Parts: sequence; C-alpha cells; structure tokens
Amino acid sequence: MNQAVILAGGQGKRMKAPIPKPMFQVLGEPMLEWVLSACEKGGLERICVVTGYESEQICSYLGDRCATAYQAERLGTGHAVMQTIPFLNEGANGNTLVLCGDAPFIDAATISKSLERHIKENNAVTVITAEVADPTGYGRILRTDSGIAGIVEEKDATDEQRAIREINSGCYWFRTSDLIGLLGRITNNNKQGEYYLTDTIAIALESGLRAGAFRSDNPDVVLGANDRKGLLRLNEAARMRKLNDLMDEGIGIVCTDGIIIERHVQIGKGTEILPSTIIRGNTVIGENCKIGPNCVIENTVIGDNVTLNTVQAYDSTIDSDVRIGPYVHIRPNSHICTKAKIGDFVEIKNSEIGEGTMIAHLAYLGDSDIGKHVNIGCGTVTVNFDGLKKSRCEIGDHAFIGCNNNLIAPVSLGKDCYTAAGATITTDVPDYALAIDRGTLHIKEGYTLRKFAKRRDENKDETKE
Ligand code: UD1
Ligand code: CA
Repeated sequence: MNQAVILAGGQGKRMKAPIPKPMFQVLGEPMLEWVLSACEKGGLERICVVTGYESEQICSYLGDRCATAYQAERLGTGHAVMQTIPFLNEGANGNTLVLCGDAPFIDAATISKSLERHIKENNAVTVITAEVADPTGYGRILRTDSGIAGIVEEKDATDEQRAIREINSGCYWFRTSDLIGLLGRITNNNKQGEYYLTDTIAIALESGLRAGAFRSDNPDVVLGANDRKGLLRLNEAARMRKLNDLMDEGIGIVCTDGIIIERHVQIGKGTEILPSTIIRGNTVIGENCKIGPNCVIENTVIGDNVTLNTVQAYDSTIDSDVRIGPYVHIRPNSHICTKAKIGDFVEIKNSEIGEGTMIAHLAYLGDSDIGKHVNIGCGTVTVNFDGLKKSRCEIGDHAFIGCNNNLIAPVSLGKDCYTAAGATITTDVPDYALAIDRGTLHIKEGYTLRKFAKRRDENKDETKE
C-alpha cells in the first residue's frame, strides 16, 4: 500500500503569529490543505500528518480525515518522520511519500510520475528535485555519473556545493520497509544539531540500497514561505495561475486588480470579471455573466447572463437572467429566481424571490417566500424578528407592495393583492384585496404664518437698523 507522511510540526517564527506555518492560507485555503488534497488526488488515502507547534489547531482542522502523530520537540525533519513509525509499521509493505506541509504547490501528476520512476528504478528512496534560478536556503542535490550521491544542506555546504542549482523539494518516495530501517541510523551530527531526513540518501547508498532523483517539470513544487512576504508571493502565484486558467477557458478579465478567485471556483465562458471581486469556495458561475466591480461571492450557484454589481452573496442560488446591484447583500440560503431584478441597498436573507420579481431599492426581506412578478416598493421591511423568534412572510404572485410597508411576520399576503404606501400589515391579506392602513390627513391652512409670526417681525426690525 502507498501512503503519505506530511510534516507540519514547524512554527514559522518569522510569521509572528501563534499559528503553525502549514495553517497559513494560500488563496483561501491552508497550505496543508493544498498538500493533503494533492495526496488525495494522487490516490494516497492513508495519510499521517506530523504536528508539533500549536498542534491542536491542525488536529481540529483535520478532524478524522487522516491520522496524526505528535512531535513534542522540533529536532529536525528526520526526527519528525520517526514519530510516525507506528503508522509506517501498519502499512509497511508499500511506499511512503514524505512531504512538507508548507510547500503548497506539489501536484498529483508529480506525485504519480515520481512514484512510477521510484518503482521502476527499484529505489529505496527517490527525491523529488527542481532546478531553480536561486537555490538559497534549500538542500543541494549531489549528483554522480550514475545517479545521486546525497543531499547537502546549505548550512553544511561548501562554496562549490552552494553553486548547485538542483535542489531538494522536500518531497521523497521511500520504500516503507527501508525507511523504517534508515530512520534508526540518522544522527544529529551537523551544524544545526538536527536529525536530517536528507541523510537517509547517503545512508541508503552506503548500505548498498538504490537512491534516485526525480526532477519535476513544475519548479513551483519547491515554493514555500518563510515570512509574510513569502506568503504574499505564494498567494500571488496561485492567484495568477487561476486567472490565467480562466482566461484560457474564455473568461474575460481586462484588469486583474483586486480579483481573487479561489481554485475550486468554476466559471462559464463569456463571463467577465471586473476589479475588486473576490469569489470563494464552491461557487459556480454560468456563461456570459458580468460579475463586479466590487463583489464578494461565496459558495453561490449563479446561472447564465447574470449581472452583479457591488454585491455580496453567500451560500445562495441566483438563477439565469437576474440583475442585482449596486450595494446588495444576499445572505445565506436565498434563492433569486430567473429574471428577478434587485436594485440598490437591498438585503435578502433566507428567502425565495420569485421569477420576474422587482425589488428596486431600499428593502429588507428576511425569512420570506415571495411569488412571481411581485413588486416590492421602496423602503419595505419584513419584520421577521419579534425579539424572541423569527417568523416568515409569504407574498403571492403578482402582488404589489407599496412603499414603506412593514410586514409583521408571520403574515401571508395573497396573489394579486395590493398594499397602500405606508401600511403596517399585521394580518393576512386575501387574494385580490387592497390593504390600506392610513389615518386621516389633516391640513391646517396658514399654520406656520401664525406660529412664526413673532420671529418674522423681529427679522424685519433687524433689517431696518
Ligand atoms: C528541508 C530540507 C531541504 C529542502 C527543504 C525544502 C532537511 C534537513 N532539509 O529544509 O533539503 O530543500 O526542506 O523546503 O530536511 N518539520 C517538522 N519537525 C521538525 C522540523 C521540520 O515537522 O522538527 C517540518 C516543518 O514544519 C516543514 C518541514 O518539516 O513543514 C520542513 O522543515 P524545514 O525546517 O522548513 O526544513 P528546511 O530547513 O527548509
Ligand atoms: Ca523550509
């Protein structure tokens, strides 16, 4: 059986936050998630994550998704893998991929191609390497005519070795039974006093085992972050990669400023994304939409030909041919049906808005079921909370709700009914009825002439002086 060990015990001191480094996010997901999902996609379902610094944060993120092993002290990458020996023993008759939880761009293709090579060459260990322009900080690959001689860490390297540009990605395939043996022979006899996992290569060769290197054609596999600036570079790389993929699929982006689209988001061709738009989670957007500027969209399914301008939408569904914005907040569990139009300063929560319904401006609709072709007047509020519990409002097809109405939930308004401006609707309104709630309007002629007569006289005196 093939399995993976992900090293995630490190702190990342230069991040200056009490968060384990692999939990810092790249494009909205912890770096550890990128590594885990690459392993899962590469067919490795048996996974053990080594935790150390602030381990409970990683354990609570993982839940029961995979195994974990705790490294009480950070004594090096070799020592970290030693903590997984019980896990390794349970699956000892296959191969183990060891990788770093803080290098998010390892991909499933590299994982499977390097495994093929590892098996074909009958290696005890196969290191995944990359050729980079600036190898600073990485372990250098020492090559021989016949293969690989070992890895030397930068701090232990000679000037000549430091010039080598082929580096250790930190990912390796091991034959599991050999890994268990090799771990027992690592020492901490080096500049940093650490147990280096990289020493397993030279040890394997000394024992007559085979070691090889697989050079990845994706140099990003080595990229990690040591500080916030490095994390920004990773985010920028991931962000631009997603935007480039989308443009290749026919999505229009004329300016990338402030556009952040997470990697699982799907968008149909012909859709245009405008600046300052953040699209997250499992959002799916159809074809020929115009999204932005200034939108935040999370876990929302959107049809074709939809226009969203300055809209925030969360956990909702928006059907085709809908126009929303500017300044609209669609809160979770809302469904906006086709051809609806929602204008400025409208908030919708946990509601169904029927086909062709218009909510042109300044309204709050919460916990409501609104029929087809309804007109909601400006300033309408569903009064869905009485201080103790939330209740629903229901409005039938073709109803016309006048401006500045308060609909006191629970209340039901029938189809084709009509409510006058300023009404407070406290009881159900039947189909075809008019609901009017209006006091008598009194007109008192000449009122201000009398009220302000004295002031006017004083003003006249002042102008004389
Ligand atoms: C390591 C490699 C280096 C390689 C580089 C790639 C060694 C000795 N060196 O160096 O050749 O080029 O990765 O990024 O392995 N970790 C633990 N416990 C520990 C130490 C580390 O869990 O005691 C984890 C870290 O959280 C991290 C990973 O192991 O995810 C790598 O550790 P790090 O200290 O970053 O290794 P490097 O010195 O960068
Ligand atoms: Ca590192």
